[in-house]
Amino acid sequence: MTLRAVVRGVGHYLPSRVVENAEFEATLDTSDEWIRARSGIERRHFATEDDTTSSMATAAAQSALEDAGLGPEDIDAIVLATSTADLTFPSAATMVQDKLGMTHGFAFDVQAVCAGFVYALANANALIVSGQAKRVIVIGAETFSKIMDWTDRRTCVLFGDGAGALVLEGQEGAGTTDDRGILATDLNSDGRHRDLLYVDGGVSTGTSGYLRMQGNQVFRHAVEKLAATAETAMERAGVTADEVDWIVPHQANIRIIQGTAKKMGIGMDKVVVTVQDHGNTSAASIPLAMSVGRKNGQIKDGDLLVTEAIGGGLAWGSVVLRW
Ligand code: ACO
Repeated sequence: MTLRAVVRGVGHYLPSRVVENAEFEATLDTSDEWIRARSGIERRHFATEDDTTSSMATAAAQSALEDAGLGPEDIDAIVLATSTADLTFPSAATMVQDKLGMTHGFAFDVQAVCAGFVYALANANALIVSGQAKRVIVIGAETFSKIMDWTDRRTCVLFGDGAGALVLEGQEGAGTTDDRGILATDLNSDGRHRDLLYVDGGVSTGTSGYLRMQGNQVFRHAVEKLAATAETAMERAGVTADEVDWIVPHQANIRIIQGTAKKMGIGMDKVVVTVQDHGNTSAASIPLAMSVGRKNGQIKDGDLLVTEAIGGGLAWGSVVLRW
């Protein structure tokens, strides 16, 4: 028997404010046509005055708990992937713990920018298979609208806000690729490329700063590194591309998503795509896509999923799981 971290529930939260590409035309030298053609993005949600990273994360967690038929009392740990926590500290995860009314267990944030959810999944998996937690809520939540330079057309049209969550539970499997749950993980980073994508604020400047990105440089790394990490994770899991039911990629750019699927030899009919409606929500994008894909009937019980992401650091990785 092999202990596996199995998905019990999924949920998400999107702020009510929807911003179409055309809205940017009033203040920036840009167009709906450019944004669609270069990124695949059509609209995104931005936090309202009532939304914070921890409030959106809590709403997503509550939705995932409801889907799982569980309550906060059933959960041992919260792992929250974010680069936009409400405060420098405490972690947004402890704020979620409090908002859920959870006075036991433990909660912490994971910071790996757009790769954050993959890192959080791998950490939650390690907690479960090592016996340190039986049930873990894994959340990706971001408020990137708070770190946008609204005068920089190269970045501010690309990002959005939101949150998604999974409830993972330790269950015994047979130790084969037919098992439900996380089958393999692969994590990577290379700090030499940290200047390609960063926020120019923090404790060293006394400001929260704005996102700066050399988008075309990040693009150059993306397809190759994403396909390589996905292939490593699939090899570790013992599965092949033709067995994959769904790729659930980080939703940064449709051209990266298409290029990676092509390199992996998997058709776009097997890719969950939400970038047109959400933009790039960083660590929230994968659980948001999983939740949307589950609710619209794409992802079914027993489906084999490969998820992959790359972001600031650079940090990148992949998880193979059977739903
Ligand atoms: N509207 C109109 N023109 C624009 C805009 C805009 N919003 N933004 C840039 N341009 C212009 C540029 O100024 C440039 O003009 P120039 O040639 O006169 O200098 C031209 O368009 C081409 O710019 P590129 O940056 O070369 O365009 P590219 O095709 O690379 O697309 C994009 C840009 C969408 C950012 C793409 O590079 C991309 O998606 N990169 C990867 C982003 C990513 O995956 N990030 C990682 C995750 S995010 C995270 O971790 C937080």
